[in-house]
Amino acid sequence: MCGIIGYAGHRPAVTVILEGLKRLEYRGYDSAGMALIQNRELNVVRAKGKIRELEDKLAFQDPYHATTGIGHTRWATHGLPSEENAHPHPDQEHKLALVHNGIIENHTRLKRELQQLGCSFRSDTDTEVLSHLISQELKRLGDVPLAMSAALQKVEGSYAVALISLNGEGQIWAARHSSPLILGLGQGENFVASDIPAFLPYTREVVFLEDDEIVQITPSSWQVLDGSSLEHRNKEQVHISWDVQSAQKSGYRHFMLKEIMEQPQVVRDCLAGRTDSSRAATLLPELDHLPLPRRLHIVACGTSYHAGLWARNIFQEWAEIPVEVEIASEFRYNRRIIEEGDLILAVSQSGETADTLAGLRQARQLGHRVLGLCNVLGSSIAREADGVVYTQAGPEISVASTKAMCSQMTAMLLLALHWGRMKGVLEESVCRDVLRGLEDLPAILEAELEGMQQTAQRLARKYAWCRSCFFLGRGDHFPLALEGALKLKEISYIHAEGYAAGEMKHGPIALVDPEFPVFALAPDNALQSKLLSNLQEVRTRGGPVICLAPPGLDQDMDDIWEIPAIRDPLNGFLFLSALQLFAYEMAVYLGKDVDQPRNLAKSVTVE
Ligand code: M6R
Repeated sequence: MCGIIGYAGHRPAVTVILEGLKRLEYRGYDSAGMALIQNRELNVVRAKGKIRELEDKLAFQDPYHATTGIGHTRWATHGLPSEENAHPHPDQEHKLALVHNGIIENHTRLKRELQQLGCSFRSDTDTEVLSHLISQELKRLGDVPLAMSAALQKVEGSYAVALISLNGEGQIWAARHSSPLILGLGQGENFVASDIPAFLPYTREVVFLEDDEIVQITPSSWQVLDGSSLEHRNKEQVHISWDVQSAQKSGYRHFMLKEIMEQPQVVRDCLAGRTDSSRAATLLPELDHLPLPRRLHIVACGTSYHAGLWARNIFQEWAEIPVEVEIASEFRYNRRIIEEGDLILAVSQSGETADTLAGLRQARQLGHRVLGLCNVLGSSIAREADGVVYTQAGPEISVASTKAMCSQMTAMLLLALHWGRMKGVLEESVCRDVLRGLEDLPAILEAELEGMQQTAQRLARKYAWCRSCFFLGRGDHFPLALEGALKLKEISYIHAEGYAAGEMKHGPIALVDPEFPVFALAPDNALQSKLLSNLQEVRTRGGPVICLAPPGLDQDMDDIWEIPAIRDPLNGFLFLSALQLFAYEMAVYLGKDVDQPRNLAKSVTVE
């Protein structure tokens, strides 16, 4: 989705903003722009395409000495990707310019009203409405915060906006409603951004803004105001523990590969301080104020949804808690029965996914309790839920989510153990066994990942020709098959479907022929023999089969990819890594833009 950075400081703003925009590239975008005020003049430079196009345009301008400015990467929602539709959008008189993330839902009506007042529009965006609206209010009220407050109260929808105006050189004004915006506090410089990596090289001191707050930054000061009363608000300053290194590629060719390879550490970090295997205990003080759930409703999108599906059986088996797992965009609109004592578990890496956030809000409005399982500290879901368990995976930059799922699986295992022990239905020995298994897992992953990557590379060369394929699994491995298919399609653009293997003969097997490979997950468990029968049916119809299995599988397959045998459900982590690496190597072999696949954004903050 779109990215925002605003800078007020002592350095050349062009450089700081360009760097910040590059660090936001992972969110996905199709145009970029920047606005600066210098010598009482507002300069706006915009370009369609990548940030380098913007850099090229800036190179032809007079060098800017401005030390205050705002920048934006746009992911088109209203109006095609073009220079005219790129942000910042100036007002008619070129006295202010603003950048915006989100969607102004009542923009058609507001635009009509503004046109009646004589405003002419130069873009097809909903955002331009905001610059004219604030400009009108500024003429009426004479003061930026008053104008922003009055204008934003007329707006329906979601926004994070940052604005510069000739009325206040050296100042940036910003506000948010249902779209993230964070303040970065430096020495003689301050920042606003839609995401922390944008200013991470300069400061790790941040303030999370709440909905309907307005903020002003100058190089030496910052203040947060209530969006309607404009009264001063006291805000807590938070220190972020990530460093620049964790938001950079560190020698890897792509963020996706780096993030897959980080998974051993991700498991360690998620467990840190939360387990005591000698006492078979889990330490999750975040849950202390929440009663034991009677039933769990897991709500999530994409990869986070697959993590929820994977954990369903585990919660049911270890904690005897019935679990429903629903895609957030469906959860919002389906009629369902949620009873007293039920808990909604909103799973989201970013903590900003619009549908998951809306599901959370709806559930809370109806009086239900919500627990967030998030990665991003201070994100909307984390703040609005009744409690939050952080997955502690560090920044995930690649659009394709990998280490986030690994951390969500780890965290949900801990939750299931915790509730199982609390409820008294999980034997101490099982809990101890799993905790020891989890503690050993990082070393096993570390030992395997490199070899896995080599196998993935070899298989990618062999199968990169395919146009369609199936991923098959059973039981806990069916959600992993769904995830394997999602990863492959989103970064290599090869059509892939995940299926529960037993479903093949109910229709999908009709598609199988020698050009339709099947990737199967065959752990050594009670379902293995059933799965192998399903695979023989595929082979009989000429379908090539790649079978991911522990050593010793004595079967005739086109390719057997051996992975170490470890207990269910922990073996899921090895299968997941193999699937991620296979998708990664396929995309690399096919020359795709791995970290920023077409049409996708990292954080889906619109419905
Ligand atoms: O930030 P979230 O976990 O809420 O994001 C959910 C999905 O948008 C995300 O997992 C998406 O499906 C990824 N592109 C998958 O790789």
